[in-house]
Amino acid sequence: MREGKSYYIQTWGCQMNERDSEIIAAMLENDGLSSVSDVKAADVIVLNTCCIRDKAEQKVYARIGELVRLKKEKPSLIIAVSGCVPQQQGVEEHIRKRFPQVDLVLGTHNLYRFPELLRQVGATNGTFVEIWDEFKPEQAAFEDRGLKRKEYLKAKVNISHGCNNYCSYCIVPYVRGRERSRDPEDILREIKHLEENGCVEVLLLGQNVNSYGKDLKEDTDFTSLLRRICSIDGIKRIRFMTSHPKDLSERLIAAIACHEKICSHVHLPVQAGSNRVLKMMNRGYSREEYLSLVEKLRENINEVSITTDLIVGFPGETDEDFSETLDLVKKVRFDSAYMFVFSPRKGTRAAAMEDPVPREIKKERLAELMQVQKEISLENNLQYVGKKYEILIDGKEKENGGGIRYVGRTSTNKVVVLDKWHGRDLYGTFNTVEIVEAQSWSLKGRTIERKP
Ligand code: SAH
Ligand code: SF4
Ligand code: F3S
Repeated sequence: MREGKSYYIQTWGCQMNERDSEIIAAMLENDGLSSVSDVKAADVIVLNTCCIRDKAEQKVYARIGELVRLKKEKPSLIIAVSGCVPQQQGVEEHIRKRFPQVDLVLGTHNLYRFPELLRQVGATNGTFVEIWDEFKPEQAAFEDRGLKRKEYLKAKVNISHGCNNYCSYCIVPYVRGRERSRDPEDILREIKHLEENGCVEVLLLGQNVNSYGKDLKEDTDFTSLLRRICSIDGIKRIRFMTSHPKDLSERLIAAIACHEKICSHVHLPVQAGSNRVLKMMNRGYSREEYLSLVEKLRENINEVSITTDLIVGFPGETDEDFSETLDLVKKVRFDSAYMFVFSPRKGTRAAAMEDPVPREIKKERLAELMQVQKEISLENNLQYVGKKYEILIDGKEKENGGGIRYVGRTSTNKVVVLDKWHGRDLYGTFNTVEIVEAQSWSLKGRTIERKP
């Protein structure tokens, strides 16, 4: 690709896919391309895709359709599609069969080949499809090349890739491959480098961070990794996701409880409240085990916030199964939850299960669950009112009529919106705030002390 060209990336899916997009952007910038915010102005448009549910996948196709129309007006436009959608389809059924106007298709295992393939597209005017069936070791090294980031205050850091759990509904093991933990030294080096560039908060990413290290030769685990990261001075906050309930250890709970830097928030997807469904999902824990884990977290970690993911309408879910999910949600009182209707994914075990539950019933169940959770979220947030918390300011909105409204997060990952502010830039500072108002998804706060 020639210098001076511009690119635009659109991303769907999980935080790990967002991290992949950051890496793609950094590689393109390295090659002299610059980012534009107007998609119509871009010379190269990258769609980094997700196929976790049918809806996610359909959004990608709709978007490609729009870009194909844009390309008719602007034939020099290069369209690239990467990530989980092409990986799932494989080379046989790739996207170009349906959309021949797409110039470059690549999967999840060969991300680092992106700039080279793009150069070839530019040089030959040809089209390329490159999807590898599995991970190759060459991919591992590229993450550690110290590529520049757009933002340093808060940074996502991969600690493992792929997943070995094969939950029966989930496509991730098929599109991301077997679980591979990154070398701890590489992770620490990356975080050190981030610290030198002003990073104060890291978000450690893996599909199951709690099983980190199990595939490594050396004797290490997630808790040891966290402890080592805690000793990096400039890093003030450490977050991580996702925690799998079956691998959450007492060692980890103890580490969260005693290290102030490790944030008091655990995202612990439960998926369902009925043992029958959990078993069919192949989750590897029972309702009782989950509830006792929650109890341990709450006993040991002061004001810990617990969030979750839930699936309704799993094949054959009965009214009784669903009411057990409702009951679990009421018992646990999650701070928030992502809730989905089951979506069959080709090639997974659940897609082949008999599913007599009508779509309408599934939708009703989802609506009911959402309503219950919304009230619980609000009630939990109301407990914050009148108390003091330290927040890291990580966002701002310009207000009509002057002034800036800053937004930050507590250690428990609650969003706090502050009063209008007219003074110096506060982005990246820690503030002690008093919570004055609560809604289901955010809090309002008043600054009472500001650290430089
Ligand atoms: N590794 C994480 C989840 C990654 S996928 C974990 O184990 O918890 C994010 C969420 O999408 C899942 O927690 C699940 O709630 C949802 N999900 C995954 N596959 C799905 C499917 N086929 N239909 C509906 N929701 C799904
Ligand atoms: Fe999917 Fe289960 Fe792996 Fe999470 S743990 S990515 S839900 S297979
Ligand atoms: Fe989606 Fe792929 Fe992530 S399917 S959720 S982008 S691993």
